[in-house]
Amino acid sequence: SNLEDKFYYHISVRISLDSDESYEGVSEASFKDALVFDSSQRDNGSVHQENGIKKHRTSLPVPMFSRNTISVWSILKKCIGLELSKITMPIVFNEPLSFLQRITEYMEHIYLINRACSLPDSIERMKAVAAFAVSAVASQWDRTGKPFNPLLGETYELTREEHGFRLVSEQVSHHPPISAFHAESLVGDFVFHGSIYPKLKFWGKSVEAEPKGTITLELLKHNEAYTWSKLWIEQYGTVEIVNHSTGDKCVLNFKPCGMFGKELHKVEGYIQDKSKKKCCIIYGKWTECMWSVDPQSYEAHKKSEKKGENRKQKQEQKAGQNDDADDMPEVQETVCVVPGSTLLWRIDSRPAHSATMYNFTNFAMSLNELEPGMEAILAPTDCRFRPDIRAMENGRMDDASREKERLEEKQRAARKDRSKSDKEWSTRWFGNGTNPYTGLQDWLYTGGYFDRHYQDLPDIY
Ligand SMILES: *[C@@H]1O[C@H](CO)[C@@H](O)[C@H](O)[C@H]1NC(C)=O
Ligand SMILES: *[C@@H]1O[C@H](CO)[C@@H](O)[C@H](O)[C@H]1NC(C)=O
Ligand SMILES: *[C@@H]1O[C@H](CO)[C@@H](O)[C@H](O)[C@H]1NC(C)=O
Repeated sequence: SNLEDKFYYHISVRISLDSDESYEGVSEASFKDALVFDSSQRDNGSVHQENGIKKHRTSLPVPMFSRNTISVWSILKKCIGLELSKITMPIVFNEPLSFLQRITEYMEHIYLINRACSLPDSIERMKAVAAFAVSAVASQWDRTGKPFNPLLGETYELTREEHGFRLVSEQVSHHPPISAFHAESLVGDFVFHGSIYPKLKFWGKSVEAEPKGTITLELLKHNEAYTWSKLWIEQYGTVEIVNHSTGDKCVLNFKPCGMFGKELHKVEGYIQDKSKKKCCIIYGKWTECMWSVDPQSYEAHKKSEKKGENRKQKQEQKAGQNDDADDMPEVQETVCVVPGSTLLWRIDSRPAHSATMYNFTNFAMSLNELEPGMEAILAPTDCRFRPDIRAMENGRMDDASREKERLEEKQRAARKDRSKSDKEWSTRWFGNGTNPYTGLQDWLYTGGYFDRHYQDLPDIY
């Protein structure tokens, strides 16, 4: 029932208004029928120690409802003439995660940052940071579920001792929605923080989300700071990672899909020093892997490839004159590796049951887990306590819808009360400040969350 709600939907799905699928009814009963519960996918002992390593759950409590019988177009058809801000998406298009949890997925490949910290060579460090920036969007692949719009004051924390970090995030603004996060190494190696400002874009027949914000990574022992922008993008466009100590940078170009999907998921870029000399080429696919290679080898390979292509085309033309072209040129699905390249990152495959669980990665599966003992230490504003997300995760869709409405109503009422008493909302863990590297306005962690003094937290659930 509000624009933000729409935004969080559009963040992952582009609604195409010329879809002509038919409407088959969106009753809660039909969702229930569609629920196929496979108890073999249930992960009971969610947290157990194995060789002293904490195991997190790798599955949700129940698989998702099938969305096959519902089409977005059918819902929009009912809304013709309505203001866009009046359209509510049925909860079945959500995924049982808050947007605060979704942005935490950035941490899945934090080992790349741990690797960067350990590398003595600055160009090698920049390569690892570039791989990290690309790997961050990998979890978005094929994820069409809309994360829940965070409530003002909602927080999320994630501590992963085995990966050496802890993170806290807070929804610091509701109009416009802004999420701020701060992650730090448990051994003082790095700080990683940012704030995400979603922006809606209207493109004729479709609506797209273009989240904005600055991401900052500080490698403390190397006294280096990197910043970049445009995360959770539509997966095309340019991302620049700047080393603020020297002005050296890495430019990564996420290619649009192109004709016949030839460029699908491709990312290509380079690292240049302050004299603008290219030190290395970085290439791959954000859905698969990233490689690096020296510019000479890369150019040589490109040239020989072109020659090869010309030859092949001539052969194909000849062949085409003789027989019917029944073998279409194959779409290249994997990355073609230039000789001499080094692998920077490769994606982990998703678990087999991912398809029935919102295409979540193993990491995403674990994010809303309420591990034994957590209840006593989490802030009461943590999204793991959101009753609507919890209900959806457990397949109770009616409860989820009802609870979501109740929470939104509660938030509206609280806002009204504040406006009457001219009490201003104050953020709890982040403050409005200036990013020291970019000079731009940013939301910076004010500290103290992990002291766990949770006085004066708002009652938002
Ligand atoms: C980044 O800045 C640091 C500090 O001046 C410098 O030592 C390093 O070479 C730079 N790194 C890259 C990858 O340009
Ligand atoms: C999961 O991915 C498949 C394609 O691999 C896609 O058809 C499906 O819509 C996705 N499901 C969700 C919930 O995003
Ligand atoms: C944050 O501070 C800047 C000035 O530094 C100001 O323009 C902006 O409105 C402030 N934002 C909020 C949400 O307080």
